[in-house]
Amino acid sequence: MSIFNLPLFVSLLYLFVSVAICQTVFDITKYGAKPNGDATQGMIGAWKAACASKAPSKIIVPKGQYTLNAVKLVGPCKGQITMEIAGNFKAPANPAQMKGADTWVKIEHVDNLIVTGLKGGGSFDGQGQMAWKQNNCAQTGTCNSLPYNFRFQFMNDCKISGIKSINSKLYHMGVLGCKGLTLYDTTIQAPKESLNTDGIHIGRSERVNITKANIGTGDDCISMGDGAKDIHIQSVTCGPGHGISIGSLGRYPNEAPVTGVTIKGCIISNTDNGIRIKSWLNSYPAIASNMHFEDVTVNNVLTPILVDQEYCPYNHCKAKTPSKVKLSDISFKNFRGTAGSKEAVKLICSSGSPCQKVQLTDIDLTFKGGPAVSMCKNVKPIVTGKNNPKACGAPAA
Ligand SMILES: *[C@@H]1O[C@H](CO)[C@@H](O)[C@H](O)[C@H]1NC(C)=O
Repeated sequence: MSIFNLPLFVSLLYLFVSVAICQTVFDITKYGAKPNGDATQGMIGAWKAACASKAPSKIIVPKGQYTLNAVKLVGPCKGQITMEIAGNFKAPANPAQMKGADTWVKIEHVDNLIVTGLKGGGSFDGQGQMAWKQNNCAQTGTCNSLPYNFRFQFMNDCKISGIKSINSKLYHMGVLGCKGLTLYDTTIQAPKESLNTDGIHIGRSERVNITKANIGTGDDCISMGDGAKDIHIQSVTCGPGHGISIGSLGRYPNEAPVTGVTIKGCIISNTDNGIRIKSWLNSYPAIASNMHFEDVTVNNVLTPILVDQEYCPYNHCKAKTPSKVKLSDISFKNFRGTAGSKEAVKLICSSGSPCQKVQLTDIDLTFKGGPAVSMCKNVKPIVTGKNNPKACGAPAA
């Protein structure tokens, strides 16, 4: 008899190959999380185990309702991680219980992570009601003492889909220092009156893709700050909220440029602004260019198209020197729907650096209370197609 046992060899080989290529599964309930109980330690334990695994791994969150305190899911990790979330989470209602954490769920320094909220799961309720009452950011100027629901930081080539962020205490999602991040099929919900509950804020990141999102909140649906580069936003519904914003730019010295932003196929309803680009008065020099907005439908939006280089909320600006932020290569194409004020299009550029290469194409915006108007300051847009209201037809105040 041969010592070489073929069936045994084959089955061992099979086992070896399957361990090598299959995902190792890390179930948070095996690490101490309990449905209808707390998942904090379970989440941290499963993450640590998955992160240490060289083989591709999968973290699973079984169905159920969990409480979760602040967690940091930090890499770098040894292998690729997928996280599948069938359960739903609630944060502590009292911000004090989060012990000063700046974020509820923070994910950072990870590559190739895939997070998927499964049907009926993937919701993260920040229970912000109590925090909103404590928020005195407008009075004190101290605005970062409450946690975001999520921060995605220094993540490369990651995809997060099917996540529902509810009633965050402060911003819902902050994206910082990422290269290649897709947020797909995202839902964001907070009441119109909730303070500083911005939907998604992107800063110093490139190749961020937000496709299919339904955002209703108390502040900007999506905003981009300095260093936002190659940002694609598509099929987003926004409202209530403050619309989609680039800026405010120029508040700090040495801001990285904003370049390459496309926003396409969005529906914006009952917001203050549609698409807004804003820069501060008395600003530091900065650059924002190559920004293109197309196929946007607005419903009852106060100012659907707004460039505001005289931004100065709460009268913060003592001097009123013109903004030094250079805006160029901007197009608004195929905007239609209803404005909530007669000033449907406002392009208020800086006398210190007039806007360059601004294009208005096929604009059709109406106002119920009378004729809509379009006003321009320090800009001569290139106008093509049909423009209603007539481009720059009204004198700028
Ligand atoms: C953005 O992500 C979606 C969903 O994964 C994908 O279909 C689309 O091609 C991406 N767009 C860009 C510009 O990368």
